[in-house]
Amino acid sequence: MHRTSLILLALLCPLVFAKDVSVHSPDGAIVVTVSDDQAHPRYRVSYRGQQVIAPSRLGLVFKDHASFGDGYRIAASAPAQADAVWTQPWGERKHVRDRHNELRVDFTGAPGESGRFSVRFRVFDDGIGFRYEVPRQPGMEQVDIVDESTEFALPDSDQTRAWWIPARAWRSLEYLYRNTSLREAAHVETPFTFRLASGVHMSIHEAALTDYASMTLAQQRDGVFKADLTPWYDGIKVKTRTDFKSPWRTVQISPDAPGLLNSDLILNLNEPNKLGDVSWVKPGKYVGIWWAMHLWKKTWSAGPQHGATTAETKRYMDFAARYGFAGVLVEGWNEGWDGEWPDNGDLFKFTTPYADFDMKEVAAYAKHTGVELIGHHETSGAVSHYASQMGAAYDYYRDHHVTQVKTGYVADNARIKRVDEQGRVRYEWHDGQFMAGEYLRSVQEAAKRHISIDTHEPIKDTGLRRTYPNWITREGARGQEYNAWGFPPNPPEHTATLPFTRMLAGPFDYTPGIFNLKPNGEKAENRVRSTLAKELALYVVLYSPIQMAADLPENYEARRDAFQFIVDVPTDWENSRALAGEVGQFVAIARQRRDSHDWFLGALTDASARTLDIKLDFLDPARHYVAQIYRDGAQAHWDSNPYDIVIEQRSAGAAQTLSLWLAPGGGAAIRFRALDK
Ligand code: NOJ
Ligand code: CA
Repeated sequence: MHRTSLILLALLCPLVFAKDVSVHSPDGAIVVTVSDDQAHPRYRVSYRGQQVIAPSRLGLVFKDHASFGDGYRIAASAPAQADAVWTQPWGERKHVRDRHNELRVDFTGAPGESGRFSVRFRVFDDGIGFRYEVPRQPGMEQVDIVDESTEFALPDSDQTRAWWIPARAWRSLEYLYRNTSLREAAHVETPFTFRLASGVHMSIHEAALTDYASMTLAQQRDGVFKADLTPWYDGIKVKTRTDFKSPWRTVQISPDAPGLLNSDLILNLNEPNKLGDVSWVKPGKYVGIWWAMHLWKKTWSAGPQHGATTAETKRYMDFAARYGFAGVLVEGWNEGWDGEWPDNGDLFKFTTPYADFDMKEVAAYAKHTGVELIGHHETSGAVSHYASQMGAAYDYYRDHHVTQVKTGYVADNARIKRVDEQGRVRYEWHDGQFMAGEYLRSVQEAAKRHISIDTHEPIKDTGLRRTYPNWITREGARGQEYNAWGFPPNPPEHTATLPFTRMLAGPFDYTPGIFNLKPNGEKAENRVRSTLAKELALYVVLYSPIQMAADLPENYEARRDAFQFIVDVPTDWENSRALAGEVGQFVAIARQRRDSHDWFLGALTDASARTLDIKLDFLDPARHYVAQIYRDGAQAHWDSNPYDIVIEQRSAGAAQTLSLWLAPGGGAAIRFRALDK
């Protein structure tokens, strides 16, 4: 061959062999392109013509097998589409539309190498998801994954603002969010939310994390975030067998902040309900023997201040019955709390009540009042010990008509105590593959007894409530409890940040509704840094199908007028709409009560006062409404005057715009009651 032709061929070769395949969202705004240019499997994403993820690597690294990634080429690709509506047994909305375009891209190794894997992309109007799918193949049965090469190369690390909590830190997910440039986010948890210079908002997370390690993100080079999977005690990330699938890696994309909140992407990427009839899973409100312990007025342990007595439980049940609450949570009824309970998880007995708690009598009183006992299991991270009693413990609850159990895993991160098959103690992270399995096992075991689970100190939520609707809520963020004893307590912007970060993952048992905002005295630093009206707004803003009225009964009876909102607000919705918001500054959300024409609205702000003009066009234009408004008074301020509240009624309709003034650290809560036609 002529010399120049050879040179030309050499130059053209990469072009000839490089392949680009694309898939776009149904509305055409998002385009994902997958390429094997230079034999590097990569994907990139554009949104409305702007590149929002630059070419980013794909791949997996194994302990005993050659890596999947560099050297691999696209062998085939297969498109698909879906457009379906599915129904949630409970949730922010009853009907969810799953409309997406799909592209499965199959990769194979260099000639002579046998490896093959696929990456399945699903592109929705509100973002993308992709996962690895590894089929059975010669020499690859048992596999240890030691790294995942997935990258997210994000633009403009100086101009992009990010909201994040640190990954793999000792308090797990219970941190205040930091607001920094993208460049300063070194190693972060997901959901990881950021705003590009163009105003586009994005959030990286994952969906359907079951038998796998949690994905955190480590910034490798400027703007390039790499998947960093949480390891087992021995450093392996995932121990699995072919064929296997990774969880979905998700990127929500929206032109503005509220758009992130109106996305169903995470749920759409989870498997449908596996439990069948779940009419036994009941959303609702509860009170409990709880806040008194966090204020040191009562103890979990035995003694003169013991909180969980039969008499105290009955007092709470009477209160709950009077105001229509579904349940009473009782913590500290079972033996094992004496001494330093966070260090002594192996001492908990999950079927043995303290002498002053009569389970039979309490169960009978629950029946008499129509208020359920909500169970509680603190494990202090001693999960093998808990596992050894789990079956009996859930049977015990079922036999006493308990249908909801709050679990707790108080332990420093990486101090989950596991006893292996040889009897050796191994310490694991809260979000490694081992714990992903343990949390799920608790939910599955509970489901067999028609019990729902509210996990505290959980693994992050990835939408598994769709598949297991009895995983009714969880913690997994800095909740109200920090206002009793946290250093410092939650600042006003915390609850204006949560909707755009933690809440994208799913329901949160924040435990709102503290009415005595300075429970440790006038001078104490630990107090609730919000106005009274804002505490009411939280019931609408921070979604959870079970919501606690967290304060002591006497504090509610002292402010019966404001308490009426908590009595009225439902916890299960026909529809939800985020109306306005900026991450960390303010948010307004409207939700329609399930099977009703009534709407509720919650709005809140950070430490700055502001006025929101809210169009009421979410209301049914064919109806008239009475708006029962609970708003900050003109002098209200979270610090100097938190109790200044105005409670008023007005007529309202879909054509109106409501001007709402929110005090510094304030909020508003509104019930729109539909009048008969
Ligand atoms: C931490 C939980 O978040 C809290 O709600 C509970 O009261 C304590 N652990 C004790 O289990
Ligand atoms: Ca906690």
